[in-house]
Amino acid sequence: MIPNETIKKIQEEVNIVEVVSEYVNLKKSGNNYVGLCPFHDDKNNPSMTVSAEKKIFNCWTCHTKGNVIQFVSKIENISFSQAAIKLGKRVGIAVSDNLNKEDEKKNRLYDLLDEASNFYQFYLNHSEEGIKALEYLHNRGIDDEIIKTFKIGLAPDLYDSLTKHLTKKNYLELDQIEVGIARDGNKGLYDTFRNRIMFPLSNVYGRTIGFSGRIYNQVDQAKYINSNDNYVFHKSDVLYNLNNAVSEINKKKQVYIYEGFMDVIAAYRCGMKNAVATMGTALTKSHINTLLKLTQNIVLCFDGDSAGIGAMHHAATLFSEFNVIPYSVVLPNNQDPDEYIKEHGSKSLYDYLNNEARPVYEWLYRLAKKRLVVGDLISSESFKKEVFAFLKETKVSTVVEYYLNQMAKDLNVEFESIKRDFDKYNFSYSNYQPKEIKKEVKETKTSSSKKVKRAFQVIIKHLLYDSQIYNKIDGNEFIDTSLNLEFSLIAKIFEMLTSDTNLINNPAYSEIIINELNKNNNFKAYIDQIINDKTIDINDKKEFEDCVKTKREYLNKINFKKQKDKFIKQPNKENVDKYVQAKRDLLG
Ligand code: CTP
Ligand code: MN
Repeated sequence: MIPNETIKKIQEEVNIVEVVSEYVNLKKSGNNYVGLCPFHDDKNNPSMTVSAEKKIFNCWTCHTKGNVIQFVSKIENISFSQAAIKLGKRVGIAVSDNLNKEDEKKNRLYDLLDEASNFYQFYLNHSEEGIKALEYLHNRGIDDEIIKTFKIGLAPDLYDSLTKHLTKKNYLELDQIEVGIARDGNKGLYDTFRNRIMFPLSNVYGRTIGFSGRIYNQVDQAKYINSNDNYVFHKSDVLYNLNNAVSEINKKKQVYIYEGFMDVIAAYRCGMKNAVATMGTALTKSHINTLLKLTQNIVLCFDGDSAGIGAMHHAATLFSEFNVIPYSVVLPNNQDPDEYIKEHGSKSLYDYLNNEARPVYEWLYRLAKKRLVVGDLISSESFKKEVFAFLKETKVSTVVEYYLNQMAKDLNVEFESIKRDFDKYNFSYSNYQPKEIKKEVKETKTSSSKKVKRAFQVIIKHLLYDSQIYNKIDGNEFIDTSLNLEFSLIAKIFEMLTSDTNLINNPAYSEIIINELNKNNNFKAYIDQIINDKTIDINDKKEFEDCVKTKREYLNKINFKKQKDKFIKQPNKENVDKYVQAKRDLLG
């Protein structure tokens, strides 16, 4: 790796206006310079701005932007490192001399990943498949400016197009395998990511370190697949968008942390650029160390479901080890920012995120209180437990006293008795039972798709651990595996059960099923997720029954839609009858 300090120094010392002027005719305009953009067909309407002060260039038409090293890399069609070396020479900073063996390797891998990212971006904008993928993105409110900013691309639905391209450009096959871009098959290398919309992940200096790929035109695949950890990519350290967000974080002295990178993009759409996200993992100390170097003003924006509450609690605990109390903001109805924009628009999201941020304990308290039934002793006890659990973890006594007081009021009891119970309460992470939270959350509104998804996850987990339960479900219902990954999984389990009738009585039932499923890479990550989901209790048969009901309703809905389409296309007697029956099933 070129040491970050060196990159910084080059950016600082090189005069960007001078460099760009060597390729583009620039004219002064206010504090900036403008000229014809060399990255698109800019004949008569100079739309590229160069700022000497901010040391960046930006085209208002094609949205190409970046620092001076990126400019030279792009215009000369050379790698980032080569551009850095070239510019380093200009200002007497010797780059290659600073590289040791390890750095050299990292640098090589970064260049390779940058090239892959360029390939994906090009393919999105210049292919037949790209038209469909762009349509998907546009439909989700992700416009061309955002696509450029986040360097979104498309992995072709082809076997080995990227690896062929990289090999032709002399990138080593072993390096491609090492960063997880290519895999070794019996017919040679093939691409890991195929037929997915690609989101590059970068380090804080904007170097590509990995990818997350999202499905967009199929349903029987994992929604996202990410690069595996490797020499340059460590998932639990990554904060999505940090490189873009740094300047805004510095300006606003505040950072928002989201659960997913689509949330970061939604926040960007409403003008909040100080946004980062973890890569589907819980917050780690490494994340916190990185962020606290920038600001102590942290806002967590997690879902209000049990997973989100768990994440909030976890984050509050971790931050308290750094003597920081983060803020939190939770969108109504368990929506994520993306879903919220769809319903209320981006202005409303902006206002909500700005106005509803409160210290994390306030939100944890509110969410707990939402489920409190005053006067119901059992509900009061679980409310107390939940609040005690997070209060035990803060080191700030005034916070503890404030909420104990609040509880005394809300429960209509003396402060002293709450305090006594609190002192007696013995909390440790291991006896923390998020399941209780979850069950009560369920009664508040959950968006139906999340509810359905969870129902399938619950069913799958029960199927994995309890062989006797299979007869409560009809395996034939899951034959249409194109519907979603959950269907494929359940179908596979039933396939195993029917092909080996002794399986249900085999004591190693769970192990055999899980091993078999893990052979399929798409299943493996998802199975791990479900198994590790502590909020799903396989002893809770009541929840299982509820989920079977949810599944029934979902299937009825799908069937109704299908029959309705058929009936509209061809309203003959058979289709009318089926449509009517489907509608009856739907209404119950
Ligand atoms: N994630 C993942 N693998 C999955 C699902 C999720 O790695 N199969 C991670 C991704 O990093 C994602 C985050 O978890 O950004 C949050 O997941 P989710 O809320 O399901 O995704 P959304 O951000 O809502 O994405 P979308 O709106 O496209 O469904
Ligand atoms: Mn979403």
